[in-house]
Amino acid sequence: MRKRILTGDRPTGRLHLGHYVGSLKSRVALQDEYEEFILVADVQALTTHFENPELIHDSIYQVAIDNLSSGLDPEKVTFVQQSMVGAIAELTIFYSMLVTVNQLSHNPTIKTEAKNYGYKEMTYGFLGYPVSQTADITFCNADLVPVGDDQVPHIEMARKIVRKFNELYGTSITEPDYKLSSVGRLCGLDGNAKMGKSLGNAVYLSDPEDVINQKVRAAVTDTNRISVKIPGNPDICTVFKYHKAFNEGESGNICSMCRNAAIGCVACKKLLAKALNDMLDPIREKRAYYEAHMDEVKDILASGTRKANEIGGRNIAEIKEKMHVSL
Ligand code: TRP
Repeated sequence: MRKRILTGDRPTGRLHLGHYVGSLKSRVALQDEYEEFILVADVQALTTHFENPELIHDSIYQVAIDNLSSGLDPEKVTFVQQSMVGAIAELTIFYSMLVTVNQLSHNPTIKTEAKNYGYKEMTYGFLGYPVSQTADITFCNADLVPVGDDQVPHIEMARKIVRKFNELYGTSITEPDYKLSSVGRLCGLDGNAKMGKSLGNAVYLSDPEDVINQKVRAAVTDTNRISVKIPGNPDICTVFKYHKAFNEGESGNICSMCRNAAIGCVACKKLLAKALNDMLDPIREKRAYYEAHMDEVKDILASGTRKANEIGGRNIAEIKEKMHVSL
């Protein structure tokens, strides 16, 4: 039997190139070898966006389309809407007894995110989202979670919770492993170390050609290169980092041309915009198909969620029996 993967996204907007290099690409690559579950984590989205439920609702479909148009095959992959799986909510409550407030408040990702969101105080729901994420991963006994490095503390917490839970109640919930994405984090075209919606530097998978051209045109290059006549330094150039990530074939050549002042930043950016648009074209084509067939997208989410409920329902019944939470 194939091993099971569960991973997911918070639907707080559309997905961008950082998501693409960091996770979507590997989801696509792993869809044959593993049985994949893609969770649209709308409850987790509420932990930070509870005042904007309409945005979350819209984004559920956009995030599903971003995943589908990146190449995930709905015949192979199961899409799950988190809020519609009762077992996840039940498990969250049971797991919450085994985690202290202190452990959660020392979680480095929680600390960073609370700071980024400017929270002086954290809600119970936000502080506890790693517990609910543990339920996401384990309701279907996922073996593996492909993640970026920021999610590692959550998976480590999940492993601890599961170990303790199994010991206490004699259950056999799978202790999940993580798989770090091999590519590092994608920086922003503005030179910021990270690409993000809240950072205002996101390049979306759904951006049309002219928006891509304009975002690339505005990118930061080697700031010491004040004239095309002086050689540039690709090692410190954001645009060159993107050539390496999205235009590997040409990047060697571009690197030496830049060092020899044989290409200027304007021309170099044009090459990058072209490479990005070439990569995005088939994604745009699939997006256009799904946007014209929203019923199909809803069906994919509904049938995947139904399957998740069958699996989750069986597992939670067994777990509650073992816990003596029963009639
Ligand atoms: N916390 C993840 C993120 O911000 C999203 C997520 C929710 C997730 N549930 C998950 C990721 C379960 C992996 C497994 O990207």
